[in-house]
Amino acid sequence: MAYRLQQCTEAGARLLKEFMAGAEARREARTLMRHVLKLSEHDFFKDPLARLNRSDFHRFASLIRRRAKGEPFAYLVGKREFFSVEFQVNPSVLIPRPETEELIEHILKEHTHAPARIVDIGTGSGCIAAILAMQWKAGEILAADISVDALETARRNILELGLEDRITLIHSDLFERIQGSFDIVVSNPPYIKKEEFATLDRDVRDFEPGTALVVDNPETFYRRFFAQALQHLNTGGRIYMESSPALLLAQRLLAEQAGFVDIRIEKDLSGKERFLIARKA
Ligand SMILES: C[S@@+](CC[C@H](N)C(=O)[O-])C[C@H]1O[C@@H](n2cnc3c(N)ncnc32)[C@H](O)[C@@H]1O
Repeated sequence: MAYRLQQCTEAGARLLKEFMAGAEARREARTLMRHVLKLSEHDFFKDPLARLNRSDFHRFASLIRRRAKGEPFAYLVGKREFFSVEFQVNPSVLIPRPETEELIEHILKEHTHAPARIVDIGTGSGCIAAILAMQWKAGEILAADISVDALETARRNILELGLEDRITLIHSDLFERIQGSFDIVVSNPPYIKKEEFATLDRDVRDFEPGTALVVDNPETFYRRFFAQALQHLNTGGRIYMESSPALLLAQRLLAEQAGFVDIRIEKDLSGKERFLIARKA
């Protein structure tokens, strides 16, 4: 039996439609097919009756099945665009989110010149460190993570973007293995409380790495985080952190107790309290 490109894509979209809106299902099925056949959008539409060989058909069918089981689209295609740059992703790293683009925008708005030293705690795919390095042509950036697998993914992204001379990757539990002081500490740390975990979407809960999402004991974790961050900031240096509305008030208090000043909480574009920004006096 011949497997035709358009026919298979439509069948894939019909299956996905049970789990998502029709337009989204069609777009995802089309993109998965293009991913398997390595086709541009233009080439995809050129010959709808093109035949798929057996192996491509099975690869496509397997991707559709995995997507229908909730596996995130970005993991299936192995990439996600962030700040208009493509990053490799896999289940060892959080899929970069639009809110984190907003965190970067806060930093860029408040710093017209490149700071000399920046540290990104919990770098994951390396997306924050890489975008800051691309925006500012000078300055040194350290990017730390507790996960060796995440650091390997960050390493590949940094190499792919030609930023290996600007960004140093460090395996570290928070600041334990970080030396020296910085002008900016940026972090999108885990901020889902254990009791909130069950409320997450299935795609996130079942597939994204738990170490990237869940903070076991927020008070202990963030007390240590703010104390170490303050210790590693230069006078006048700032911390930019992403978080959740459920934690930000407690974090504000912990930041204050650690000695931070000018602490403010900013909302994201959806109107939710999302970012904590503070200064070392
Ligand atoms: C929410 S993800 C953020 C990833 C990436 N920065 C982003 O914004 O897409 C949190 C990251 O923090 C890392 N992490 C968790 N606990 C950590 C710790 N104690 N020290 C350093 N990194 C940690 C996780 O491995 C994960 O990569």
